[in-house]
Amino acid sequence: MTTYKLLVLPGDGIGPEVMAEVEKIAAFLTYEGLVKFEIEKGLVGGSAYDVYGAAISEDDMARAQEADAVLLAAVGGPKWDQVPYENRPEAGLLRLRKDMQLFANLRPAICYPALADASSLKREVVDGLDILIVRELTGGVYFGEPKQIIDLGNGQKRAIDTQVYDTYEIERIGRIAFELARKRRNKVTSSEKRNVMKSGVLWHEVISALHTREFPDVELEHQLADALGMQLVRRPKQFDVIVTDNLFGDMLSDVAAMLTGSLGMLPSASLGERNATTGARKALYEPVHGSAPDIAGKGIANPIAMISSLVMALRYSFNLEDLADRIDRSIAAVLEKGLRTGDIAGGAQNTISTAQMGDAILEELKIAVH
Ligand code: NAD
Ligand code: IPM
Ligand code: MN
Repeated sequence: MTTYKLLVLPGDGIGPEVMAEVEKIAAFLTYEGLVKFEIEKGLVGGSAYDVYGAAISEDDMARAQEADAVLLAAVGGPKWDQVPYENRPEAGLLRLRKDMQLFANLRPAICYPALADASSLKREVVDGLDILIVRELTGGVYFGEPKQIIDLGNGQKRAIDTQVYDTYEIERIGRIAFELARKRRNKVTSSEKRNVMKSGVLWHEVISALHTREFPDVELEHQLADALGMQLVRRPKQFDVIVTDNLFGDMLSDVAAMLTGSLGMLPSASLGERNATTGARKALYEPVHGSAPDIAGKGIANPIAMISSLVMALRYSFNLEDLADRIDRSIAAVLEKGLRTGDIAGGAQNTISTAQMGDAILEELKIAVH
């Protein structure tokens, strides 16, 4: 059996709390001989800054580059509000994405049947929802230069962020979206603001040309990003795959999360290009949510986004579809039983803790594999 090298980066806030539940499941899978993980742990975000004075150490960067997959929980928090901008906790995550060239961020938003009433929208709007946001992750305004604040000397300052996209960056993320759509409901919605932004004009042009050239069998539509935000809460089931840039993808995926009941439900996979010879690709798996400083340390965070991120690793990095399906079904079964962490409880009194949710999923999984 292949041994997979996993680098585990719990990070800050609720990060270590939700990662502990994933570690329980990984230990169980290893114990049962269902998969063989060689797990190393590292630091990222504020917890790395406190030890190394940087949001990720060179050593952990090197280990991330060598791992078969990296699992990251969350970074950030008010404790590090005053650290220099280049060392802020988020810089560790951004460096991992950029240096590992993880340009494709897949953010599935699936509404579990048991949670159709947990969303802030009406049941019929979200019931059966299954959309996939494909977010470009290594370009755009997150990384474009110049990025700076200039002192104008007259008591005024000027802040500059730069949105930059080259043809190849749009093409490779578009290709991922079209390929994934073919395995789903065969529809891609591409989103930008070409009415205001030059990068939007190029985005629209490149995605349209790629569609004609390589994917004429896939349905393609374009929606301006503001209108798409509106449609996401109006009639979200019209979407299959949404492909968009780094910043729009960040915002739209938080909106999509609430369609499923909670931000604590959404996993993601950040993937690099496939190696042409080995077929392997660099990958980092992380929930869409952050370090949730408001509930950190209380043991009440929802671990499902983090556990589902491990499930995505089984699918996208290790080709263990059966095992991934079994964990997914275990999560669904726990939700069917009415077990809820506070974020998805909808005001109900009987909420369970992070550890109880992890244990409940593990119990279902034990039944599923025996
Ligand atoms: P957040 O996602 O941390 O929290 C937003 C809200 O959702 C909070 O009310 C929080 O309690 C709730 N929430 C989030 N995850 C939850 C979970 N698993 N279970 C239950 N409730 C959950 O966003 P924020 O408060 O805007 O940001 C806090 C910090 O996290 C910031 O420093 C931000 O930069 C960082 N952040 C990190 C990541 C990441 O590491 N991938 C992602 C987003 C934000
Ligand atoms: C996310 C987060 C990150 C982002 C932050 C923490 C850098 O919000 O993964 O959604 O903006 O990409
Ligand atoms: Mn975000």
